[in-house]
Amino acid sequence: MRFKFFTAVLLIATISVATRAQQRIETVLQSEWKFHKGEAVDAYKINFDDSNWETVSVPHDWAIAGPFIKDGNGSTGKLPWKDEGWYRKKLNLTENYSGKQIYLVCDGIMAFPKIYVNGKFAGQWDYGYNSFYLNITDFLKTGSENILAIHADTRNHDSRWYPGGGIFRKITLVAVNPVHVDTWGTQITTPVIKPNYADVRIGTIIRNASAAGSEVTVKHSIMNPEKELVAEKSVKGNIASGSAQRLETTLTLSEPQRWDVAHPNIYTVITRVYRNNELMDTYKSTFGVREMRFTADNGFYLNNCRIQLKGVNLHSDLGPLGMAFNKGAMERQLQIMQSMGCNAIRTSHNVPAPELLELCDSMGLLVYNEAFDKYDRKADITDTTDFDAFAKRNIGNFVKRDRNHPSIFIWSVGNEMHDVQTNSNNGLWRLHTMVNYVHKYDPTRPVTMACDMTGQAANRHFDLYDVHSWNYQRRYELARQLEPEKAVIVSESASTLSTRGFYEFPLPKKPDDFTNSLQISSYDLNAPYWAEIPDDDFKWQQEEPYVAGEFVWTGFDYIGEPTPYDNRWVKEHGMTDENASRSSYFGIVDLCGIPKDRYYLYKSYWKPDETTIHILPHWNWEGREGEITPVFVYTNGDCAELFLNGKSLGKKCKNPRAGKSVDRFRLMWDKVKYEPGELKAVAYLHGKKIGEQILTTTSDPVKLRISPDRKVIKADGSNLSFILLEAVDKEGNVYPLADNKISISIKGEGKIAGVGNGNPQSFKGFQSASVNLFYGKAMLIVQSGVDPGKIIIEATSDGLKKAVTTLETK
Ligand code: GAL
Repeated sequence: MRFKFFTAVLLIATISVATRAQQRIETVLQSEWKFHKGEAVDAYKINFDDSNWETVSVPHDWAIAGPFIKDGNGSTGKLPWKDEGWYRKKLNLTENYSGKQIYLVCDGIMAFPKIYVNGKFAGQWDYGYNSFYLNITDFLKTGSENILAIHADTRNHDSRWYPGGGIFRKITLVAVNPVHVDTWGTQITTPVIKPNYADVRIGTIIRNASAAGSEVTVKHSIMNPEKELVAEKSVKGNIASGSAQRLETTLTLSEPQRWDVAHPNIYTVITRVYRNNELMDTYKSTFGVREMRFTADNGFYLNNCRIQLKGVNLHSDLGPLGMAFNKGAMERQLQIMQSMGCNAIRTSHNVPAPELLELCDSMGLLVYNEAFDKYDRKADITDTTDFDAFAKRNIGNFVKRDRNHPSIFIWSVGNEMHDVQTNSNNGLWRLHTMVNYVHKYDPTRPVTMACDMTGQAANRHFDLYDVHSWNYQRRYELARQLEPEKAVIVSESASTLSTRGFYEFPLPKKPDDFTNSLQISSYDLNAPYWAEIPDDDFKWQQEEPYVAGEFVWTGFDYIGEPTPYDNRWVKEHGMTDENASRSSYFGIVDLCGIPKDRYYLYKSYWKPDETTIHILPHWNWEGREGEITPVFVYTNGDCAELFLNGKSLGKKCKNPRAGKSVDRFRLMWDKVKYEPGELKAVAYLHGKKIGEQILTTTSDPVKLRISPDRKVIKADGSNLSFILLEAVDKEGNVYPLADNKISISIKGEGKIAGVGNGNPQSFKGFQSASVNLFYGKAMLIVQSGVDPGKIIIEATSDGLKKAVTTLETK
């Protein structure tokens, strides 16, 4: 198989309105990067010899291939992310580029990137998660080869989770005429929304880098979600040489189609800039028409309907793929979350990839868009001596880049910033500075900050922002008492801990009963001392309508933060650093996206109209015959009857007024004595049977099963198929204890992008041609090449019949 990547730069003209010369050339710099990890002092120089360096494509994460550092720090994933690294790429700029202004737009480089063009320092940035851009025109030569060199350095970066290393999001080269729309240069708001019309206000920043002042006409064309032209209007202005000016105008849409979670209608604006009737630039933006408001006593309203936020927190890593952004992998994460009834995402705790917001716009997911984590503790930011300038550039880029996305309903300036909450180190002034910059760049949305220090609410930091936002345990109570005019968001709920497929007996007596197994029982009753189980949050929200909703910590497991089994815990319990885990137990689904039991608990409550009947634990307990083995059923029904080998173990009903939260949301038979065979749950809603579920004791596994989520993928060198591997018995039931090693062979137009199995204790590499099943399952991620064709994947394991599947790449 041949991996032929794009040899020349990939040219994507955003809009094909051809005039004399192409007006805007946007090129994603994906392939043919040279990469070196470690020091290379001369690597910025033009003639530096990089021929021995590895060839990589971007997005790239230099640490995800490992190997794991077994005695390393579990909190950041035990992967070799702390280092410096160099990237070099040739840019062949044809004559099409002559006379153009050329920008480099970077969406995320970990960390402290320094950019060199043709041997000269062109600029730098100080916050790895943020997008930034540089005008590199003066460093480039058109009609010839240019050298772009980027230094990334994580040695002074600290983090409370795995941050990855290198150019982990896309880089785009943008070439425009001297008169052009600035980067992120449109701001689209809908100041008036009535049932039969909406005003659309468009502010456009036009930059004039030409030698003479220019009279320009800026013409906006609005397309409805069906791509039909529905409004058009022009605005004129005079832009002095070497300056930029904002030109505003208002268009009216009749019968606007609202953006909503059920109907995510997106409008498109094509902005054309003319000078002396000649087209200079064409720029595309998207927006949505929707009304959003928080009420003091009744939470959040979207288009005049109260909507409970059923949200999850997502970190930036993509499990076995690490931090290297991939839109398909992100889309899959969001689809899995949405399938559970989730309607909102919090981008904990950093500026997300811009593609995440595009996906949320088009999928109908609300976004709590967050800028920073507690920078005064472990931080992405080391030097904030000039905080005002720091906040201005970082909040400025964050808000200007993202403000047209209809999915964003609130901005968060940060998570658990302790200096702010305690008002030390000028904390309140810092908060005020950040909030002011958000409001300056977007006066239309509320701002918040996620808090955790209960008593510090007395400092009234909430007077400086719009909505209360608190993590865990009803900590919002004092803030809400002191300021009842503001609604509440539970920005982090649950933090429930579990390992997919793993169960321990007896049930824990209290949430933070953890054992030396280094895994956490999947009965969903464990949480760290500061947090709670899902049922508690459901109950509290039922009791308090001013709570607009919750964001569960977390939707997916992530690399790092293996609470409680971090290096400190294992040492306190007589073990060594090598025993500390490398990824979290917080996820509703595991690191590979395989649902844990909790997925069904959330689905049963968040998606009441869809039938859910889920029985736990598995029913393979050889050696536990006659012993108490509690059985739980998660269902949207209100009652269920449980049968063991045909004998009823009784009917249980949820008690909607129960004081103990679990009794409201789960059905539990806690005296069941294990005997092998068949467990059956028959569920009822309002007295009517809604369905039944059967769980059987499986016999020994005899064969492998291979199930790709996508059989046809794009031949673009980055599209993915997530392939579930399982061991099944002769009846086709998954053997829930299987830990067989599976070898993978791939032929054709694809390669292995990653493997994993959701075990936070696994130190086998994520980029390997073999993987062990973990409680019966594992995940293989296959990536397309650039040639269309077939990918034949074979999974083999000693003693099991092999499984084969074929994907098509188009
Ligand atoms: C919160 C914090 C999160 C995560 C979580 C774990 O306090 O904001 O980033 O650490 O605890 O429960």
